[in-house]
Amino acid sequence: MKQIVCLFLGVLLAVFPATGQNTVVAPEPIAAEVGIKILMQGGNAMDAAVAIGFALSVTYPQAGNIGGGGFAMVYRPGNEPVALDFRETAPSAAARNMYLDRNGNVIPGASTLSASSAGVPGTVRGFSELWRCYGHLPWKRLLIPAIHLAKEGYQISSYQHQAILSHFKKLSADTGSCRIFCPGGKALPVNILLHRPALAKTLKKIANHGAWEFYRGKTAGKFVKELKKKGGIITLSDLKNYRALWRTPVHIKFNGDDLYLMPLPSSGGIAIGEILGMLKNFNAAGLKANSVETIYLLAEIEKRAYADRNTYLGGPDSFPVFWQRLLMPAYLEKRAAGIRPNHATPSAGVFPGLGPVETSGLIIKESPQTTSYAVMDRKGNCVSVTYTLNGSFGNGILLEKTGILLNNEMDDFSAKPGTPNLYGLVGGIANAIAPGKRMLSSMTPAIVLRNGRFRMALGSPGGSTIITTVLQTYLNLSLFSMNAKEAVAAPRFHHQWLPNVINLEPQLYENKILTERLRKSGQRLQRVRKLGNAIIIFRPDNGKTEAAADPRGSGVTRIQ
Ligand code: GLY
Repeated sequence: MKQIVCLFLGVLLAVFPATGQNTVVAPEPIAAEVGIKILMQGGNAMDAAVAIGFALSVTYPQAGNIGGGGFAMVYRPGNEPVALDFRETAPSAAARNMYLDRNGNVIPGASTLSASSAGVPGTVRGFSELWRCYGHLPWKRLLIPAIHLAKEGYQISSYQHQAILSHFKKLSADTGSCRIFCPGGKALPVNILLHRPALAKTLKKIANHGAWEFYRGKTAGKFVKELKKKGGIITLSDLKNYRALWRTPVHIKFNGDDLYLMPLPSSGGIAIGEILGMLKNFNAAGLKANSVETIYLLAEIEKRAYADRNTYLGGPDSFPVFWQRLLMPAYLEKRAAGIRPNHATPSAGVFPGLGPVETSGLIIKESPQTTSYAVMDRKGNCVSVTYTLNGSFGNGILLEKTGILLNNEMDDFSAKPGTPNLYGLVGGIANAIAPGKRMLSSMTPAIVLRNGRFRMALGSPGGSTIITTVLQTYLNLSLFSMNAKEAVAAPRFHHQWLPNVINLEPQLYENKILTERLRKSGQRLQRVRKLGNAIIIFRPDNGKTEAAADPRGSGVTRIQ
């Protein structure tokens, strides 16, 4: 009898999932409020994700955007999560050596600061696709808050002021950006109201005519014309041909969880899959959060995973990438077997598992580029989004006629295999520039299920450190039994193969016993101010949803 009742209850729960609370985690409070309002108006998580994304294009211009691209992981109760790829593509006029001089050397700033560093934007098409497939409220309604914020203005926070100050040189070098962010040669002060009339008009047109406006309408024409004057190479047909693509997530099983991670062109899913797959060859259950043993072992594993990432991975649609081999248990067992206890392998001695690559060394530059947010509605639908302009404020070029800030995502290609990009990542041939190709990313929006039920939504900005931030946040929740707040706050470390250092956040770096033991085992260490800026929605066994924004950033949570 008991079994029949349980079975009946199980079927009921699958058909009528329990109603929970509306939950939003976003990088700043205004956009979080927009998300909650959309949910309270009867919108679902997908509607709210679109509305938050458009709002952030106004209120969080360092990464929120309509001129960039990104990824979303989408979960509907009873269904496997699906991945939406709205990554930028290389324009049709792009060429493999476009950022090299006559001697074959990378031209400084060409792939980060010039108008030709912009890839074909994917965000508007991506949001439109998310809404077309799963949205509930009318499209226009989702853009109203962003239009209002751009037209009526929003208050500059101290976090925003700091972001403008940090990128003052880049922003003041462009007339469009300078007029908006550094009027009179000064960074916008805290509390001033910032109005974005040109952006408001563009958003209104997108509200009225849909993504068509951005890719084929008047906005497309103005965008291409102004960009060309600045030296950009995106054409009308590049915009017309842009597609957002649904992809099958990388599915990894670990510690009783089913992780659904972003597939190529993100390297995140494959890299986390490799790391967890190697970790299975050790006594993971015996590890403690941030102990010497854990940091040592994960750093050794990460060196090997990033060596593979940098060598073999690239946009999947124009280059054959045999990534499945990297996740085979036998391959990972062999790779893990090379890890020695208490005797670190220097990066120069770690080779990609399927063949050689050129090497280089550069200190990574971590900055708050990119942004992540997540939404869950009462019915349990959940969306985790990470989208970006690449560098903070992209390449710093703002097209005045449309109010659009340009991405500098072309820098995520390997301009010259073996040469580090903005994040110090050294790429291989698989990620060489080609027309129409998507550049390799590290962005890793993730959904984790357990026994077919929602467990976590995760994400983080941070360039190459996104992978290890999402990984550690996951391990903190799953393996180290932390709650959501503890899991985002815990100190982080990161190794990306090249350069040969473990980056440690101050709390770890200042622990003398820990650093002494790590150094003794052959690890090289470096202090970094912070790593990542994670977001979490977590449903532990007690069924009570928790949400947390990283204390490293300006993010907030709203549960209603
Ligand atoms: N632009 C950073 C990334 O895609 O990983």
